Amino acid sequence: MEASPAAAAESCSPVDILTDGDWGQLTRPTEEYLSRLSEESTELFRLTNGEQLAITPSSVTFLNLFEDRVEQRILALLNPQDHKTVVAVYLGQGWCSVDQALRTSNRERQELVQVQSVGERIVLFLLNHVICGSSELPANVFPFRDHPVNEFAKIFWKDQEAAGFYTVKLKASLCSTHTSQCYQLPVLDTIFVRERHRGRGLGLEMLEDFCGLFPDGEEELGISRPISAAMYRVCHRYLQSRPEDQTRLWEVEAPGDWSQRENVWLLIQMGIIPSADPSAHPGSS
Ligand SMILES: CC(C)(COP(=O)(O)OP(=O)(O)OC[C@H]1O[C@@H](n2cnc3c(N)ncnc32)[C@H](O)[C@@H]1OP(=O)(O)O)[C@@H](O)C(=O)NCCC(=O)NCCS
Repeated sequence: MEASPAAAAESCSPVDILTDGDWGQLTRPTEEYLSRLSEESTELFRLTNGEQLAITPSSVTFLNLFEDRVEQRILALLNPQDHKTVVAVYLGQGWCSVDQALRTSNRERQELVQVQSVGERIVLFLLNHVICGSSELPANVFPFRDHPVNEFAKIFWKDQEAAGFYTVKLKASLCSTHTSQCYQLPVLDTIFVRERHRGRGLGLEMLEDFCGLFPDGEEELGISRPISAAMYRVCHRYLQSRPEDQTRLWEVEAPGDWSQRENVWLLIQMGIIPSADPSAHPGSS
């Protein structure tokens, strides 16, 4: 049996088909599918360039979605030439290319939407693990770790595509599963915009949105250290237009007590920030 190309399906996007919090709708059909897959399988996945990949037990692997849960995982089809590249994911109803998985058929899904459903968690994982974790993260930026299952996160939707995300460590949340230390202030932990959407204000909008989650002046706010050069530019722009937040925004090391904070505006004023990498920002000079 030849697999019909995932792109031909009406919508295979996780956010369109896995719309609530029930992981069983993904895990049960995946296990059933895997039990039928054999090395003799003739199932193929067609790439956009016309190339066809055989889907066999040795060409697929499970990816754990969260560092703190092993049971929530997704079946991925790997590029046979490069076993690190994820080509498609199995979403219970069939295979979906990564590009398609990051799209939505819902025109109403626009701008920042909080991650809640299973489908949204999968999109966040793909953005972080597959897109940001590979070619689209500048060499001078540390890769982000996988997000915990209940991490506060928002995805930026633009032109029916997941264009970026940000995640927050809430005040009093655990720093990690291996410690009893808790964050002492809300911290913008990871923020990412896909290359083709950079330089259009999405990063700035996400920083504004994060700061807007907490009423003005009520809380000190953090951004996880190290802040990248490009993100410093975003902070600079933001703090120029919001002077009232200049004393409020800190670059922090977890858990963020006073000895682990440096004021972002002060660092910018003192010039103690890395210089921006122009190649990471198509619109920059
Ligand atoms: C940092 C990042 C989120 C910024 O997103 P973005 O959508 O491109 O940012 P914006 O378009 O909102 O830019 C806001 C301002 O910062 C400037 N800026 C952003 N990145 C820049 C860069 N690399 N070089 C120069 N200026 C930059 C923009 O020009 C803009 O200023 P302006 O309004 O005066 O022109 C994005 O570059 C990214 O995902 N980088 C890789 C991951 C990363 O570094 N994350 C941060 C970890 S702390």
